[in-house]
Amino acid sequence: MGRLSGKVALVTGGALGIGAACVTRMIEAGAKVAIVDLHDGTGQALARQHGGNARYFHADVSVEAEVAAAIAGTVEAFGRLDVLVNNAGITGPNKPTHELTEAEWDRVQAVNVKSVFFGTKHAIAPLRAAGGGSIINLSSIYGLVGAPDLPPYHASKGAVRLMSKTDALLYAADRIRVNSIHPGFIWTPMVEQHIASMGGDPEQHRRDTGALHPLGHMGDADDIAWGVVYLACDESKFVTGSELVIDGGYTC
Ligand code: NAI
Repeated sequence: MGRLSGKVALVTGGALGIGAACVTRMIEAGAKVAIVDLHDGTGQALARQHGGNARYFHADVSVEAEVAAAIAGTVEAFGRLDVLVNNAGITGPNKPTHELTEAEWDRVQAVNVKSVFFGTKHAIAPLRAAGGGSIINLSSIYGLVGAPDLPPYHASKGAVRLMSKTDALLYAADRIRVNSIHPGFIWTPMVEQHIASMGGDPEQHRRDTGALHPLGHMGDADDIAWGVVYLACDESKFVTGSELVIDGGYTC
């Protein structure tokens, strides 16, 4: 019996990067997992790889009706929902505040913040029906401290941190725990694309950034996925409203 045996989870942005690692580690721990993403080919391939333990749902997390349909589809496919991982996110444009357009600002908030609202809103009924559960929101170390770049992204991750605490308080009586995870520098497709889009050399960046960490390297997607498994399972039953920082000591 795995730590997540009998549980059903939904992971937004589950086709790639941190989300895909969460899908795999939760299934290995015994869960059945819905993968929600826009990358249909990759998401469907990951679902096939896990046979009957995974289902893929196409949904844009910034569109309420699509999020609601994915959650309803998960409950229909697997009979219940115990864990929601609000993971999908985008970095947005790397411009200073005075150069940003309203549309650029709004898009990052829609994908990174409204998605957490939509996911949480539509998950509450099935989580209550399951007798409680766990909502895990992917924030960032830049939801805890500032940085002189990516203004809409950092604002979005700060919002996710406090949404997690508010919802932790709102739904504690329903035995629904809500926590945020704050990854440091994790090597994923999002990071690689971001570096390349700024004209940087991804491999050089990986080495240089790794050297800034007390532990001497960047993290990988599994480093975050194990934190998600912990917050999803009953061993974390006394943990709610907390901020799990996984950053190789970067913010110490
Ligand atoms: P990624 O870009 O590798 O994967 C993100 C996934 O979300 C992709 O599969 C993408 O298709 C999906 N996605 C994006 N927009 C979507 C939308 N509108 N609807 C549905 N799916 C959508 O990113 P990564 O690195 O795995 O990041 C996952 C989460 O972790 C994000 O919330 C990110 O902000 C956060 N994070 C990542 C860090 C890192 O260093 N990689 C550091 C701190 C936080």
